[in-house]
Amino acid sequence: MEDKDLTQLIATLPAELTAILPQLGVAAQAKGYRLFLVGGVVRDLLLGRPAGDADIIVLGDAIDLAKSLSPSLGKLTIHPAFGTASIILGNTRLDLASARTENYAHPGALPTICLGTLKDDLRRRDFTVNTLAVSLNATDYGRLIDDHGGQGDLRAHLIRALHEHSFADDPTRIWRAVRYEQRLGFNIEPNTLSWLAMGIMGLKNITGNRVWHELAGVLREDAPEKALVRLSKLGALRQIHPILRADSWLAEKCQATRALGTQSIPVYLALLTYRLKNSEAEVLADYLHLSKPLRRVLQNTHDIKVKLPVLGRYGLKSSTIYQMLHGYAPESLETNLVASTSPQARRNIMFYQNKLRKIKVSLKGSDLIKLGVPLGPHIGELLQRLLESRLDGQVTCRADELSLAKTIAACYTPQPS
Ligand code: CTP
Repeated sequence: MEDKDLTQLIATLPAELTAILPQLGVAAQAKGYRLFLVGGVVRDLLLGRPAGDADIIVLGDAIDLAKSLSPSLGKLTIHPAFGTASIILGNTRLDLASARTENYAHPGALPTICLGTLKDDLRRRDFTVNTLAVSLNATDYGRLIDDHGGQGDLRAHLIRALHEHSFADDPTRIWRAVRYEQRLGFNIEPNTLSWLAMGIMGLKNITGNRVWHELAGVLREDAPEKALVRLSKLGALRQIHPILRADSWLAEKCQATRALGTQSIPVYLALLTYRLKNSEAEVLADYLHLSKPLRRVLQNTHDIKVKLPVLGRYGLKSSTIYQMLHGYAPESLETNLVASTSPQARRNIMFYQNKLRKIKVSLKGSDLIKLGVPLGPHIGELLQRLLESRLDGQVTCRADELSLAKTIAACYTPQPS
């Protein structure tokens, strides 16, 4: 078969990336290194999908090469432990890594890494569609290297692991297989699916940090519910928490949140954990080592959920709705907005989001002091009273606030005898 030339496709990569390639090529040639574009970027180029970050394999010392580039190209970060370097080029990231082989001491362990050839580096990868490489060297620039039938699998829409131990070596690939399958509208190849099914229990061997990395990857997808439902059916979610599940309820809620214009990892996570008890969600948050802001969203979501029966009542005063919903993370409101079954609770949440939360009192504490309110807790109480009156429409302008404040201030001010 004739070698495929991807020169024209490479030219369609983001400009910040194509601009750096000639300088990279010259620097590599001077050092006697060879370079190959590899992995997801090549897969996406061939599929005509917008390419994300780019990975380059260096047959040579990747860090040495990265350091020899002009600092003006972009922000350079070196990872000596991994023998890799990253350059941030505007909105794109370029990762340079020396070609390597990997060995797994035991299933689920992080691999030990040794320098290797291009073939070694392609052989250690997860799926055939991610093993495609393109030469960036002057002698055969643009030549596609397809050692594992990646092009055929791209055409056949298949996610195929390279060997039967792939998921045992690295159980995170279970998450990755499903993510690619659902993102690209592909199928996991039947043998691969059976290896994957056998590897599911191995998910227990990986750390919560790594699971969160994969889960966050799924939640970042355009329609994460597709992969979540598939992972749930395959039994992968149960390995994170015994009663975690993704079903048509979750799918519908994820779609509903997008219909409202929200595409956010915290909201998707809060929906995924919505039906867990608070104590179960806390166990999960500990296991995944979730950040404080994410934990707050989950806790707030639970706190609002508990209030839904009251929030679903008709005729609540605006100030009551405000008190019930004030101070919570916006994502926890959005989650309850789509998850609640009560139309009235939803209306009240929307009313808070769109109107009540923006209402402010125009008088300040200093204005109240001028009116004679003594320093101390009375100031806060009065400001709160003014806010409630604003929310409930009893005062509508600064003049109204002043007159109400004067009336109340009179009660605090000692009367002349
Ligand atoms: N890789 C792998 N096994 C993993 C993680 C990564 O073999 N557990 C390899 C794959 O060849 C992948 C490359 O490393 O293409 C880069 O990983 P990553 O950036 O996660 O994948 P991409 O396909 O580039 O990115 P995306 O998922 O965003 O499309």
